[in-house]
Amino acid sequence: MKHLNLKYPIIQGPIMGGITTPQLVSQVSNSGALGTYAGGYTKPVDFEEDIKEILALTDHPFNVNLFVPNHYSETPDAIQEAIRALTPVYNHFELTPRLPSGTPQRDERRFNQQVDIIIKYQLPICSFSFGIPNPTIIKKLKDAEVYLIGTATTMNEALAFQEAGVDAIILQGSESGGPLCSFNQPPVGTELKALLLQANQTLTIPIIASGGIMDKEQVNAALELGVVAVQMGTAFLLTDESGACDAHKDAITNQEKDNTTLTPIFTGRFIRVVRNKFIDFMESQPPRAVITYPLQDSLTKSIRKYANQLNEADYIALWCNTNGFKGKKQSVESLLKSLV
Ligand SMILES: Cc1cc2nc3c(=O)[nH]c(=O)nc-3n(C[C@H](O)[C@H](O)[C@H](O)COP(=O)(O)O)c2cc1C
Repeated sequence: MKHLNLKYPIIQGPIMGGITTPQLVSQVSNSGALGTYAGGYTKPVDFEEDIKEILALTDHPFNVNLFVPNHYSETPDAIQEAIRALTPVYNHFELTPRLPSGTPQRDERRFNQQVDIIIKYQLPICSFSFGIPNPTIIKKLKDAEVYLIGTATTMNEALAFQEAGVDAIILQGSESGGPLCSFNQPPVGTELKALLLQANQTLTIPIIASGGIMDKEQVNAALELGVVAVQMGTAFLLTDESGACDAHKDAITNQEKDNTTLTPIFTGRFIRVVRNKFIDFMESQPPRAVITYPLQDSLTKSIRKYANQLNEADYIALWCNTNGFKGKKQSVESLLKSLV
């Protein structure tokens, strides 16, 4: 990462759901670390607006994270069963259930348009989650001199990324807050330290460590294991510049000890969140009540959005890592000061 000219070996991780605001990304990059904009499933028009806003706020490099599209399908019966399971929650908020709206074709189109925007604005760095893009996309970005980073949760995923020609790998331990970015089925989840010990003997490209890192000691421990930088999500979610609502931040800092769990109920993918009423309720439903990503995500979106507006922590996806309870609410500047 040397050529990126970072003062601090710290990357603010992509945090979907309006949390990596242009203010957060630019503030992190302006402070000497690397901000990341979570492109994920953001519509290309909003994606481009946000990129323009970040460019207006910083001259420093920043990363853009993209979700690599996958194929998925569900039977109408499975979708109806998932809607039936969620009905008491829709009723609680007086919401009308709607059929999921995503299609793999639309995801593919959005991803290609996002790639074109990265090239149009000559952005220097791009990271991928949930899969490896096809060789044409990798070549197109490399021809445009974009530094490419793959996100992996196992050594097999990391090796596949390395073979595909990316420049660096984010190794994501199972302690991570938010989604486990695995693309091997079923997702495994390995602790960060075990991943790093395996990686040193296997990978030849630079490694970035992520998962459960909240303080200076953990940053140093990861650097001592040979990584070039660490990526942190939850610690940045708690900053003043993040778009997370107060109920979400409070639910993280009010934990006395780790009260997180890995659950598919919000999106159809395994994400680490603070336990709440919604999870308890969904765990009492039959397992088939949860359908695949992004269809489950689409079904719970209105619930999460409304709960966010009402600041109602019982129904928000309270993404958080296993050490989030040690975090505190503070500015980006004060967080970075405490880490280096
Ligand atoms: C609220 C939230 C949303 C996230 N969204 C994304 C995402 O869009 N893409 C991605 O690759 N990782 C995402 N992650 C995972 C991370 O950025 C990163 O792997 C993780 O935050 C590092 O773990 P930490 O939270 O333990 O520091 C998200 C994490 C959180 C907490």
